[in-house]
Amino acid sequence: MRLLGFWRLLSVATLASAAHLPPRNYTSHDYYAVHLSPSTSPEELATHLGLTYDGPLSAIQDHHVFKAPKHQNDIVDDAVQELKRRRRKREVGGDFHVLDSIHFTQKQKLKPRHWKRGIIPEPPAGHTLRQNIAVHGNQEAVKTQQKIASTLDIKDPIFNEQWHIFNTKTPGNDVNVTDIWMQGITGKNVTACIVDDGLDMDSRDLKDNFFAEGSYDFNDHVPLPKPQLSDDRHGTRCAGEVSAGRNDACGVGLAYDSKISGVRILSGDISDMDEALAINYKLQDNHIYSCSWGPPDDGKTMQAPGILITKAMVTAVQQGRGGKGSIYVFAAGNGANNDDNCNFDGYTNSIYSITVGAIDQNNQHPYYSEACSAQLVVTYSSGGGESIHTTDVGANQCTSSHGGTSAAGPIAVGVYALVLSARPELTWRDLQWLTVMTAVPFDQPSDWTKTPGMGRNFSHQFGYGKLDAYAIVEAAKTWKLVKPQAWFYSPWMHVNQAIPQGEKGLASSFEVTEQMLKDANLERVEHITVTMNVKHQRRGDLSVELKSPEGMISHLATARRDDEDIRGYEDWTFMSVAHWGEKGVGKWTVILKDTKVNEKTGTFTDWKLRLWGESIDASKSKLLPLPDAHDDDDHDVIDDHPAHTTSVNVPTGTPVSSVNPSDLPTRPVNQKPTNGAQTEPTASATSAAASATASPDNFLPSIFPTFGVSKRTQIWIYGSIGLILVFFAGLGTYFYLARRKRLQSSRDNYEFEILDEAEDDEGGARTGMLAGAGARSGRRAKRGGELYDAFAGESDEDLLSESEDGDGPYRDRDESPYDEKAHLADGSDAGGSNASGGSAGKRQ
Ligand SMILES: *[C@@H]1O[C@H](CO)[C@@H](O)[C@H](O)[C@H]1NC(C)=O
Ligand SMILES: *[C@@H]1O[C@H](CO)[C@@H](O)[C@H](O)[C@H]1NC(C)=O
Ligand SMILES: *[C@@H]1O[C@H](CO)[C@@H](O)[C@H](O)[C@H]1NC(C)=O
Ligand SMILES: *[C@@H]1O[C@H](CO)[C@@H](O)[C@H](O)[C@H]1NC(C)=O
Repeated sequence: MRLLGFWRLLSVATLASAAHLPPRNYTSHDYYAVHLSPSTSPEELATHLGLTYDGPLSAIQDHHVFKAPKHQNDIVDDAVQELKRRRRKREVGGDFHVLDSIHFTQKQKLKPRHWKRGIIPEPPAGHTLRQNIAVHGNQEAVKTQQKIASTLDIKDPIFNEQWHIFNTKTPGNDVNVTDIWMQGITGKNVTACIVDDGLDMDSRDLKDNFFAEGSYDFNDHVPLPKPQLSDDRHGTRCAGEVSAGRNDACGVGLAYDSKISGVRILSGDISDMDEALAINYKLQDNHIYSCSWGPPDDGKTMQAPGILITKAMVTAVQQGRGGKGSIYVFAAGNGANNDDNCNFDGYTNSIYSITVGAIDQNNQHPYYSEACSAQLVVTYSSGGGESIHTTDVGANQCTSSHGGTSAAGPIAVGVYALVLSARPELTWRDLQWLTVMTAVPFDQPSDWTKTPGMGRNFSHQFGYGKLDAYAIVEAAKTWKLVKPQAWFYSPWMHVNQAIPQGEKGLASSFEVTEQMLKDANLERVEHITVTMNVKHQRRGDLSVELKSPEGMISHLATARRDDEDIRGYEDWTFMSVAHWGEKGVGKWTVILKDTKVNEKTGTFTDWKLRLWGESIDASKSKLLPLPDAHDDDDHDVIDDHPAHTTSVNVPTGTPVSSVNPSDLPTRPVNQKPTNGAQTEPTASATSAAASATASPDNFLPSIFPTFGVSKRTQIWIYGSIGLILVFFAGLGTYFYLARRKRLQSSRDNYEFEILDEAEDDEGGARTGMLAGAGARSGRRAKRGGELYDAFAGESDEDLLSESEDGDGPYRDRDESPYDEKAHLADGSDAGGSNASGGSAGKRQ
């Protein structure tokens, strides 16, 4: 305990930096991210387990980094399990043990890097824009542009090519920023952080605005995120769009007097721990995080950030910028041509990120830009024969071919930097509000719908329209800050019905009453999220709509031709911004469709609605507890309010029966939110067959092909069989309960008990979620050979007893399929070293 004071001091002194951690070397060491009770010193745990304590995981409170020489086992979790086993066997007593202070532990593994969302644009039609201007430029507009440049003393050589800033060819098709610059609003006092493949701080266009203290290289673990690989150009190009200086190099950024920093994560495989550190790096000094990347846009991936990343984002939104909240801007994704939809990406569909899609110079939808109900806004990028002209890697290099939603995101970042420069006290939600209120719809065919909430036009393809820098900055100047966030969670609605195929849908409703929202202190809706469990033999056949009480329809999920995944939706959280401003009271209906008439069928298991919005009484608001790896507790409660469900025909306006609110248990709101835990793993690039057999989530017949493959798998299957025996009373019941076991498997009971006590003491902190981007990645590959051998020796008893307490055989199911697939793809089972096994290069 004496150590503790010292350690506290140390941790406060170092909290602001990731540089305090020794550089990671994943070749020689294993790293563990551990959530410890604040009353236990990390050194004590390190000593007990023979680990080296590297320092606090500064991204998240009470989380720490330990390392040990590389080993196939998960040393920390094995020790926890061993203590549990001994207690069960009464070999040791129940007295407090240092391991009892572990709330969460995760051995780090390298995962494939994210995809950059730049694209190779269609070649410009023979000319550069400069030539086009010469030929086609509107003379009036060219004169205006020259006048602006001379008034603002802009001498940047490619300024007149930067059509997204001032379009002389198609006047009006730009971000409308120059009058804001004229007012002297140019990004001063705002720092944007480019989370990418590096940033060339030696570029003459960037060096004066470069902010080294906000920068770090999480791939090479050195302070400066200097581009190293031949394709490390993406981050520099994005940085130029935001903050290229007003000078004699290339062009200008939209916020040319802002500061720009870079954290490098896209140039190599990375662990969740390092991504978490990166995504809220220097959260008081970096104000906006620009993220032009994400899970593969291949039309078959469904992937959310891991729990550490989720916690880091929530931390930033709650604590960043002095508590006003860090701003996350994500590129919507380039998979439109693959039928992809940004609601299958847990970063873009997070309520904490502003999702930005692209339009081309003609205000048209470029073939790549994804649509979804979580998309807030669009802005300019490549397409229609043009691209974005910006800074490139090199002392004085420019590019005229930056594109994809990758290029749209940073334009929005530049605009938001101007907004924050004009009005620094805006919270993260104010920025989203201002976007909704000022985005400009434009005359392009789409599903534009006037939203009942705000009377604004929304389209799944273009969000609320295109960003207009002048409009949003002007509105920001007098914007009345919104009250703090509040939320309402419905109970889990148990449907458990087969999904009819074709035009029919299966509809399930929940009725929100005025009283419920009053109790939740919720005045009006901003985001809504729907977490769902659906079993289906071909995920790509499914589509989901949500109809609000005021009649607005969000297309939460759309069918995807290439998505062959057989796992359906597992605790996947969809998000919509289309209900912004609605009151929320009345019947919310989810309509699930199996759009293809074929032999692939499925069942709608359950769903849960969450309304997020502005509080009624600011003084009663509170911060959302950080999400937890083992949330979703009430999922286990078999309550007696099954959803009333009916098959309906499209269109979805058909009335359906709904739950009478008086049938519902009065459920305390804002009190025990659960995690919208998402299936983090994906069926990405590897074949469907591989993911089918490898997926630890496929615990019914599809597992049998893996039978005998490894000891771990065998034990797991034996456990499944044991469960089947125990529960074979009904297959349906089995399905139902087995899923709950799976959900519980992310914890072990021992740890769970501790958590309950500890966290209840903290006032029920075991709650919360990252809406739309929760994660189920908490537990991973663990229990290497040795412990399993130990279990195998006494397997029946132990496995059964573990089955009874809802653990054991299913534990492995939380292992990320990344590993499994990596093994299959590599054709080698690393025999347990998978815990750190990267699947290097698979996405390159
Ligand atoms: C990481 O460890 C490996 C194995 O010990 C070693 O060969 C390598 O040089 C180390 N890398 C760095 C950057 O220290
Ligand atoms: C663009 O900015 C000008 C002021 O420079 C403003 O009058 C105009 O309304 C803006 N455009 C839109 C669509 O708001
Ligand atoms: C920037 O911040 C400083 C210190 O907080 C303040 O004095 C100055 O007015 C700010 N500048 C702008 C342009 O907001
Ligand atoms: C929404 O679109 C309709 C139809 O195009 C148009 O009449 C209306 O003015 C638009 N509303 C807003 C707020 O842009």
